[in-house]
Amino acid sequence: MRILGADLATNRLRTSVKWRAFPRDVLPLWVAEMDAVLAPPVVAEVTALIARGDTGYAWPEPYVESFAAFADHRWQWSVDSADVRVVADVMVGMEELTRILLPDGGRVIVDDPVYDAFALHAAAILRDLGQVPLTAANRLDLDALEAAFATSARDGVPSVYWLCNPQNPTGTVPTRAELEELRDVAARHDVRVLSDEIHAPLCIDDDAFTPYLSVDPRGLTATSPSKAFNLAGLKAGLVTAGPEARDVLGRLHPVVSYAASHVAVRAHTAAYRDGGPWLDEVRGELSENRALVRRLLDTRLPQVRWAAPQATYLAWLDVGGLGLGSRPAHTLVSTARVALGEGTNYGPSGVGHVRLNLATSPGILTEAVDRITGALEARTG
Ligand SMILES: Cc1ncc(COP(=O)(O)O)c(C=O)c1O
Repeated sequence: MRILGADLATNRLRTSVKWRAFPRDVLPLWVAEMDAVLAPPVVAEVTALIARGDTGYAWPEPYVESFAAFADHRWQWSVDSADVRVVADVMVGMEELTRILLPDGGRVIVDDPVYDAFALHAAAILRDLGQVPLTAANRLDLDALEAAFATSARDGVPSVYWLCNPQNPTGTVPTRAELEELRDVAARHDVRVLSDEIHAPLCIDDDAFTPYLSVDPRGLTATSPSKAFNLAGLKAGLVTAGPEARDVLGRLHPVVSYAASHVAVRAHTAAYRDGGPWLDEVRGELSENRALVRRLLDTRLPQVRWAAPQATYLAWLDVGGLGLGSRPAHTLVSTARVALGEGTNYGPSGVGHVRLNLATSPGILTEAVDRITGALEARTG
């Protein structure tokens, strides 16, 4: 049985935001949720917890240990459990670390484009936002980052950089050499790097991923298995400090850990500990879906450009050639009844782009391309 195989009617029984935010006749391929049958060890864990009424407060140790074992197995990255704290979710982790590192009015520097909630979370903690475009090949532009760090320093505005490693929405993965250079550039301007590594288990090739803390002892990371195992509704996350950033972890108030849900912590633990075979299967299906969408685009919508991603289940599509106006995703909801992520939500350089979620069945992906093609033909015909 396929993990990403359910048809539309089955998926529509779901009640999460993906399936409720648009009318029923819209095909939802926008938010980063998978249409997946969950990993059996996660289902067994959560079912057993509920059956025995085991719904108290979280006990973090197994979660931290399962993450350390997963990191060691997948990336040969040795994590000391003492350097990890449980948080409510990844973005709360990024926020809380930033509150410690930056005064109000300090600047959070991010890529352009990048995960749209980065801007929202920086605003939520009253920090200014600096956006630095990626290169044309969607890679970190280290010269542009250095210029942004230097400008902040010159203006007397302390800053941190939120790295998205692997990168959402483009699916690129920074190399070790790029991260080493980033570390040096950041250190020259006294900028701390916080690396969001939630998409790391979704690299096409595990060896492509470099944990940021393996190059920078002053760095901090936030992660969780919630993207890779489709557990966004089970809120928990982990932050990890490099050996020269332990003081930051020490300044996290203990209540920050209290917000993680026990059910989520247990589900995440089961995913890290026993979900490996499921993860490998889902990554295989995602590779098939990537190839399918590539074929469909090449044959039906050759004006769409898509640089091959190295990670994530997201496709960052340049649809500028389709003549869909300044808000292509908006246009496609009304004309094709397909909901995609609006490129400009991810930053100013997202003009002419949409983000498509590949973590669904081949049938639904095919229907999405059919609908878009049909809407374009109706327009010209
Ligand atoms: C890069 C990135 N970070 C964080 C999140 C959200 O994680 P959480 O729900 O744990 O805050 C997402 C969700 O899509 C994401 O893509």
